[in-house]
Amino acid sequence: MSGENKSIHEFDFKLICEYFSSIERQGPGSPEATIKALSFIGSLTNGSKIADIGCGTGGQTMVLAEHAPGHIAGIDLFADFINIFNVNRRKLNLQDRVYGIVGSMDNLPLRNEGLDLIWSEGAIYNIGFERGLNEWHKFLKIGGFIAVSEASWFTEERPAEIDEFWKDAYPEIDVISNKVEQMQKAGYIPIATFVLPEKCWTEHFYVPQVSAQEKFLKKYAGNETAGELVENQRHEAELYYKYKEFYGYVFYIGKKIYRDCHISVPFERA
Ligand SMILES: C[S@@+](CC[C@H](N)C(=O)[O-])C[C@H]1O[C@@H](n2cnc3c(N)ncnc32)[C@H](O)[C@@H]1O
Repeated sequence: MSGENKSIHEFDFKLICEYFSSIERQGPGSPEATIKALSFIGSLTNGSKIADIGCGTGGQTMVLAEHAPGHIAGIDLFADFINIFNVNRRKLNLQDRVYGIVGSMDNLPLRNEGLDLIWSEGAIYNIGFERGLNEWHKFLKIGGFIAVSEASWFTEERPAEIDEFWKDAYPEIDVISNKVEQMQKAGYIPIATFVLPEKCWTEHFYVPQVSAQEKFLKKYAGNETAGELVENQRHEAELYYKYKEFYGYVFYIGKKIYRDCHISVPFERA
C-alpha cells in the first residue's frame, strides 16, 4: 500500500484488505528499523501513552510494544485490519496494554496533549506529511515525540518515469531536507532522520507478496479487480528495483517543543 496510485482507490476495499492482510506488513519497514527509530525517543514509562496511526494489522505496533513500556493504541481506518491486529496482540499476550481502534487519522479520537509518542509507519501520506504533522501536534504533550516514515526523494533530479509515477501517486514526495524543514515549521525539533534499508522494501514487503500474489490470483481467478491489484503491486515493485537509488522511505523523528496557540488547557493549581 506504499505509493498507492490513484486507480487503486477504485478497487474493492475488501479485496485490498484481504490481499494486504495476507502479509505481515502493509508497507515497507522492518523490526530493526522500528527499534532504531525507537532508540531516538526520550524516556518512556509504564504510564506512557502512545498512538500508532495507520497501524494496519500491527506488524510494527507489536514490535514497538515489545521494546517500549506504556499503553499503545493502534488506529486504522479499516476494521478488517484492526480485527487481525486484535488477534495479533492476544497471541503475544499484549492485550493489557495494546488496543486496536477503528478510526480515521483526519478525525482522531484522541485527547489534546494526552500522548507521549505518536508513531506512524508508511501511513501519514494518506492525509499528507505536512497536514499530518500539523494536525497531530496538538495530541502530543509538550516534550512528546513523533516518529513517522515517509516516501522521500534521495536526489534533486531523477528519471522521468519514476518522477511521474510518484508525482501521480503522492505529489508531496520531496527531498529529505524539505521534509525536515516542514517538521521544524510544524513545531517539532528534528531529532533524527534515517533512510530505511533496502531490505525494508524487498525482504519485508515485496518478497512476501510474491507467494501471496499467486495464492490470491488462484483464489480470485478471472476476477478483474484482483488481477489489476496484483498487476499494480508488481509494477510498483518493478519500479522500486529499477529506481531504488532515487527514492525510499525515511524515518523522521521530532520532539514537540511548544503548545499549539489555539489549545486551552484546564487551569492547574501550582
Ligand atoms: C501503507 S499501510 C501501512 C500500515 C502499517 N503502518 C505498516 O507499516 O505495515 C497504510 C495504512 O494506513 C491506513 N489508512 C489509510 N487511510 C487512513 C485513514 N484515513 N486513517 C487511518 N488509517 C488509514 C491503511 O488502512 C493502512 O493500514
